[in-house]
Order: sequence, then structure tokens, then C-alpha cells
Amino acid sequence: MSSDDAAIDPSEFRRVLGHLPTGVTVVTAAGDERPAGVAIGSFVSISLEPPLVGFFLGTQSSSGAVLQEAGAFCVNVLAADQLELCGVMASKSDDKFAGVETTTAAGSGAPILPGIVAAIDCTLESVTELGDHNLIVGRVLSLDTPNPDAPPMVFYTGGYGTYAGS
Ligand SMILES: Cc1cc2nc3c(=O)[nH]c(=O)nc-3n(C[C@H](O)[C@H](O)[C@H](O)COP(=O)(O)O)c2cc1C
Repeated sequence: MSSDDAAIDPSEFRRVLGHLPTGVTVVTAAGDERPAGVAIGSFVSISLEPPLVGFFLGTQSSSGAVLQEAGAFCVNVLAADQLELCGVMASKSDDKFAGVETTTAAGSGAPILPGIVAAIDCTLESVTELGDHNLIVGRVLSLDTPNPDAPPMVFYTGGYGTYAGS
């Protein structure tokens, strides 16, 4: 095992880190021209007091500018049956919301996707550049579980499943 940056092959980095199962969210933000939506697996709870959450967004992501302009965002926790929506939100499509019947989060004004397990609405607290990603921290405005019993989507070793516990 080596700590030399140059010795870490990106595909090996992805392969090994892929053994950590993650939930899958879509972070949305209201835009002046069109809303942003991006599939995010790095979402994390940070602090209870004050209530902070965060995720890591690639510096190349086109959603980053919209999110920073809006100064607010909503985290949509996907259900296991939302694979198609996940694929669209992980794409570079110009119109990721075509045919998706969203509602609007009261605080952030961001779209809330239909069929999600949970929604966490936030104002943008800080953006910190870390390598090729930005750490986006949000202060929670409101939380909800529209479908608390829906099995959540889980991403693991490049594939999708759900929570199999009791
Ligand atoms: C399951 C899954 C999890 C992902 N997690 C992240 C993430 O945590 N951070 C990130 O920057 N991109 C993540 N992505 C990739 C983005 O969704 C993808 O790069 C997207 O095309 C960015 O869109 P945008 O450029 O319109 O913002 C993930 C994709 C998938 C399928």
C-alpha cells in the first residue's frame, strides 16, 4: 500500500472506493433559465447544531454554477425503482426535467422529484475546492420523508440495488 499520489491509478481508486455502498440522491437547484439536477452519491450528514449537510461536486459539473447562483438546493433521496431518473440526472442532458412532474421546495425553490424517499431543503452555506471536486455545504431549512417506506436506491461496485436489512 502506498501513499504516493503518483502511484494511485484512478481506475483502482474508483474500484476500491466502489466497495463502500452509498445511497443515491439527486441534488436540484432553481435556475434563471432552467433548473439543475445532478445524481450524487457523496451526500453526507455533517452537523446537528447547526443543521448542516454536504456533498462533493465535480468542478466540471454544469450544475455547480446554477446551484451557486441560486444560493440554495434540495437533496432528493432516490428510491430503488428510480433507476431511469438516476440515469438522466447522471447525464449531461440539457433538459433533465423533461416529462418529470416536480413540485417546488418552499425554502430553496428547487424542484422536488416525484417518488423520492426523502427531501432535504437547504441554503448554500459554503463551497470549498478540494482537488477536482468542491465540498458543497448546505444549512438545512426543512426535511421531509414523502415515501418513508420506499426501499432506497443503493450504489455498490458500479451497480444498483437496495437495502436488504430488516
Ligand atoms: C450513482 C451516482 C453517483 C454519483 N455521485 C456523484 C458525486 O457524488 N459527485 C459528482 O460530482 N458526481 C457524481 N456523479 C456523476 C454526476 O451525476 C455526473 O457527472 C453528471 O453528468 C453531472 O451533471 P452536470 O454536469 O449536468 O452537473 C454520480 C453519478 C452516479 C450515477
